[in-house]
Amino acid sequence: MTAADEKRVVDAVPKGLFIGGKWRDSAVGATLGVEDPSTEQSLCAVADGTAEDAVAALDAACDAAEAWAATPPRDRGEILRRTYELMNARIDDLALLMTLEMGKPLAESRAEIAYASDFIRWFSEQAVRIDGRYSMNPSGAGRLLTMKQPIGPCLLITPWNFPTAMGTRKIGPALAAGCTVVVKPAQQTPLSMLALAELLTEAGLPGGVLNVITSSSASRVTEPLFDDARLRKMSFTGSTPVGKKLMAMASKRLIKCSMELGGNAPFVVFADADIEHAVDQAVIAKMRNGGESCVAANRFHVHESVAEEFSARLAERLAAMPVGRGTDDGVLVGPLIDATQRDKVAELVDDAVGKGAGVLTGGKKVGDRGHFFAPTVLSGIAPGTELLREEIFGPVAAVATFATDDEAIAAANNTEYGLVGYVFTKDIGRAFRVTEALEVGMLGLNRGLVSNAAAPFGGIKESGFGREGGPEGIEEYLATKYVALDL
Ligand code: SIN
Repeated sequence: MTAADEKRVVDAVPKGLFIGGKWRDSAVGATLGVEDPSTEQSLCAVADGTAEDAVAALDAACDAAEAWAATPPRDRGEILRRTYELMNARIDDLALLMTLEMGKPLAESRAEIAYASDFIRWFSEQAVRIDGRYSMNPSGAGRLLTMKQPIGPCLLITPWNFPTAMGTRKIGPALAAGCTVVVKPAQQTPLSMLALAELLTEAGLPGGVLNVITSSSASRVTEPLFDDARLRKMSFTGSTPVGKKLMAMASKRLIKCSMELGGNAPFVVFADADIEHAVDQAVIAKMRNGGESCVAANRFHVHESVAEEFSARLAERLAAMPVGRGTDDGVLVGPLIDATQRDKVAELVDDAVGKGAGVLTGGKKVGDRGHFFAPTVLSGIAPGTELLREEIFGPVAAVATFATDDEAIAAANNTEYGLVGYVFTKDIGRAFRVTEALEVGMLGLNRGLVSNAAAPFGGIKESGFGREGGPEGIEEYLATKYVALDL
């Protein structure tokens, strides 16, 4: 990639707020800087939305709601299908844009665009499968009818770690269901969402159906919407503490919420597992997105008889992963999103080492510019170590050992989170016993990647509720109306 390519893709993105099908400046003319986390240099500035802008976006979403809900499902699906095709036709530019603002290597950005577009394709197909039920009243007197209707205008709040896919996973089902939306992307990565808004428009999405408010203050632009009786639904992907605050605001008017929150995924390797395969999958589960994912393996619980071999092999693989700017050839690990995140990862590693963990590889920051941290494997993690409890969101694999299946299950469940777990064993009976016992919404059985547009993504416990993707995903944006019929 040349500097000219980088400039071209950044220059091509509209920098305004997208409201009612038009690009406009913030009500007070303020802007928000966007930085490349590899160089810490400014890429550009986008509009810094205000409360007034947010209400204007909701006005636009409400004005467009009736016509969009009445648009034939096939037409809604075809707009989404064209968007899927445009995303894939422009994958190189979209990936470069994402790498510049978020840092992940180009190959990972391309994989994210493919994953993101898959949600759009999946929900283009689901748009025509919204149905209801007709049945006889059990008493025989009359009939029961149910119909599914769009829930109404939605607020979609998306994170920086997957700037496009976490958007399409909400936008796809909302639009397919016939809902209009206001999207608030993360302040670190607004460009990918602005580019997506342009593609949806090019694909034929009418003005006002999708509105995008970029802002340096999430609370400034979301609070007024929670106070507005026209907002009917909020979907959030982000941390558990922020999710709790949003839920408290949503509770004032009982707005329906979907919450895709933090994780603390256990990766459990039993003595009978295929260790080579477990290591391959551990690299994916840990290092996808540089570990900045809520489904990243956070804790490795490995049977004591194979822990040394597993840890050594994992360390060898992670040590061989080149770290650098995501645009450079051969780079497999980009920077963390910002200095705060990198310092948090460093503190967790220091805490573990202070409590006796061994550093098999990495364990430190890399370079003096950009938020880089070396891929790290720590062994001999003691109970009570912070990174067994905290979501790391970085390239650090912490290996603890267990002796019995019950011990492994207890350790895996010893967290307030319940998003995903990974289990490696060749014993089918053990596989299902452990699968049933783990307190998670998703489980990878001999697999380090669960994410799939056709599957219901989501957690239990403090990892949230609601499901994104799969046939379940569109249900979050539909309200069921029951009609009692007397024939
Ligand atoms: C996330 O990290 O929030 C989602 C990751 C995924 O969809 O795979």
